[in-house]
Amino acid sequence: MKKFVALTTMGALLAGTALADPVEVKIGYALAENSHYGAGSKKWIEVTEGLVGDRFDFVEFPASALGGEREVIEGLQLGTVEATIVSSGVLSNFVPEVGVFDIPFLFRDFEHARSVLDGPIGQEMLAKFEDQGLIALAWGEQGFRHITNNRAPINAPADLAGLKLRTMENPVHILAFQTLGAAPTPMAWPEVVSALEQGTIDGQENPLSVIVSSKLNEVQKNLTLTGHVYAPNVFFVSQIFWEGLTDEEKEAFRKGAVEGGLAMRAFVDNAEATGAKAMEDAGMAVNTLSVEQKEVIKEALAPAYADYAETFGAELIQQISDAK
Ligand code: PAF
Repeated sequence: MKKFVALTTMGALLAGTALADPVEVKIGYALAENSHYGAGSKKWIEVTEGLVGDRFDFVEFPASALGGEREVIEGLQLGTVEATIVSSGVLSNFVPEVGVFDIPFLFRDFEHARSVLDGPIGQEMLAKFEDQGLIALAWGEQGFRHITNNRAPINAPADLAGLKLRTMENPVHILAFQTLGAAPTPMAWPEVVSALEQGTIDGQENPLSVIVSSKLNEVQKNLTLTGHVYAPNVFFVSQIFWEGLTDEEKEAFRKGAVEGGLAMRAFVDNAEATGAKAMEDAGMAVNTLSVEQKEVIKEALAPAYADYAETFGAELIQQISDAK
């Protein structure tokens, strides 16, 4: 049906006739409108509209209003949802190779991560989603993930022993926390805050952009700045929707997504600069892992790194690590 509407739209445009109704574009994302997701989505809409006028009626569905990230991606595949911005949480269930970016401590810093994603390795990875009925237009960002929990501050792998830590449904992350001795509990985001509140899990891990905008200080005592893994996002549209667009519209959506990704990065830069202090002021105990403490964790991850090399190829991992 959506495809028919989009094709009708294209036909009307080509014939130079005025459209009765703009085409609805639903954009689903996990967090509130005032988060980095909202910043990325609003910029995406603003730039796209600036290029193609009011041919589309963008409707945002923040705060997981369309379901968890897996459900929203499946909605894009079915053509019931037109667009989304999602974390890398469930992406490797669709394109396994993308999991390489989820390897702990792979990226040295933001500059390294952003340059790999914007370069050939990152762009080739986006193209792989087309086989899954998904058009991946640009990378966005959440930041580096940190651990919050209600048991005790984390200083060494021993502090993770048996910790019921919610992870995303992400096999690379799950393996890392299993290797470190934690009890990783994969769970879709919409269930996390109530599970923390009820104590069915002890903690979770997310970047400061998420910790602050989701007010995790209200349900978590300790925040350890582990920076254990970089967390990218992807701006997607449904292939079914995409096929109904003109070339000009496709270009507008693509440019909008790239600008949306940059807006997310700017938001994240600010969250990184101010988030830890904000959480401390709000009552959390905040500690930061030293370089030496991170080295101990990396050493403990050795068996997981061997597994990642087998899964993704040691050469690709090295290429990413060596990138400037
Ligand atoms: O932890 C997650 O599931 C993700 O980081 C979140 C919070 C949904 C944002 O994409």
